Amino acid sequence: MTVTIVGSQLGDEGKGGIVDLYGDGADVVVRYQGGDNAGHTVVYGDETYKLSLVPSGAVRGKVGVLGNGCVVNPGTLFDELDALRERGLDPDVRVAERAHVILPYHRVLDGIEESEKEDLAAGTTGRGIGPTYEDKAGRRGIRIGDLLDPDVLRDRLEYVVPQKRALFSEVFGGDPDDVDPAGAFDVEALFERYRDYGERLAEEEMTVDCGAFLADHLDAGADVMMEGAQGTSIDIDHGIYPYVTSSNPTAGGAATGTGLAPAIAGDEVVGIVKAYLSRVGTGPLPTELGHVGGQTPEDGGDTSASAEETATYIRDEGGEYGTVTGRPRRVGWLDMPMLRHAARVNGFTGLAVNHIDVLAGLETVKVGHAYDLDGDERLTLPPTTERWGDCDAVYREFDGWPEVDWSDVAASGYDAVPENARTYLEYVSDQLDAPIYAVGVGPGRDETVVLEDPF
Ligand code: IMP
Repeated sequence: MTVTIVGSQLGDEGKGGIVDLYGDGADVVVRYQGGDNAGHTVVYGDETYKLSLVPSGAVRGKVGVLGNGCVVNPGTLFDELDALRERGLDPDVRVAERAHVILPYHRVLDGIEESEKEDLAAGTTGRGIGPTYEDKAGRRGIRIGDLLDPDVLRDRLEYVVPQKRALFSEVFGGDPDDVDPAGAFDVEALFERYRDYGERLAEEEMTVDCGAFLADHLDAGADVMMEGAQGTSIDIDHGIYPYVTSSNPTAGGAATGTGLAPAIAGDEVVGIVKAYLSRVGTGPLPTELGHVGGQTPEDGGDTSASAEETATYIRDEGGEYGTVTGRPRRVGWLDMPMLRHAARVNGFTGLAVNHIDVLAGLETVKVGHAYDLDGDERLTLPPTTERWGDCDAVYREFDGWPEVDWSDVAASGYDAVPENARTYLEYVSDQLDAPIYAVGVGPGRDETVVLEDPF
């Protein structure tokens, strides 16, 4: 069978922990979209592994696959594999021949386009994700399979690189021969480096026809986990365009991004919900608490003293500060219209709600139950981001729950979750018409209350 894990909000819902937990029951873990813009931390024994591309299951001896819907930076992939091998692991990772390759010029262009966009900038991760998907859709991309055939690789580079040079110099006013990294716009340098990557992929027998590979495993009785990165509200089609990533994290992506039929790719679809919102990036956020300069829109956020205080509490308890920059992340109350939209788009068969421990100790926990849009009540997202920015949240209040020993709660089971927190969880489950499969009560893999294992 297959289990698909999908972020139901803005990414960073704590998918990694759930993938890790349920991944125990899987034989193969496949990523179906995105690239090294994702980040997941896997704690295995006493060791912590930080990965951005390699599927987390590969740390635990599962077969990890990067599906055709992914964009792959081979340099990142081999760096991560080498680092895992140095630490004594033997990860088995396969890459779809139909997956697209991120080249150095994609990263350069990602950076320069973001700085030109000003108000429209999405605050990208700078990994070249958008420009690579642009080339895929523009039918000028280079695929993993092309790296295995030097003649095809050279032909593709000779066609596309002059266009990228012209774009960089004539539109953006840069010098393509004076960039970091050097050789980002040089056919010969790119050819040699990417041909070498192709040779290594071939030597290590890493490339697969993803759909056929997965179907063979399923026919042989294997269980497959489909691991979504990012989240529904930053989906290119269903998210808050243009403040989105360039792929489909939603459940439909699990079919197109792997080559399995939709009816096979979605046996179970588990929506990962964070008990509050956090956001790195720009765009509206109707339930936002407080204001983060440079990211919260001018007229956005609740800047009352009590909202700023709650925002700081949630940030401190949840560690909502950038890992590199230390900058505060935007935070807000749970947004039910956003979640109802996610439930419809993805067809959740179950939910995992994370981080309820972070809200412990608050006297009152609020939820944006609906929106007021020009005097009308709305229960889901309007289709344009501008109209979303016009929405005012209509709140419901829940009594808060106390700080408790969450490890004990995890060990004892759902009945040990404080009663008011259960009321909150049951409200979410009722509204989304999907049962609670798991409740995250802390960062560790053991700090999860498991009600249902979908495998
Ligand atoms: P990109 O995916 O690097 O093109 O970035 C596009 C938008 O998606 C930006 O707002 C990023 O902050 C956001 N984003 C990309 N990856 C993640 C993620 O893994 N978690 C949360 N946000 C992400």
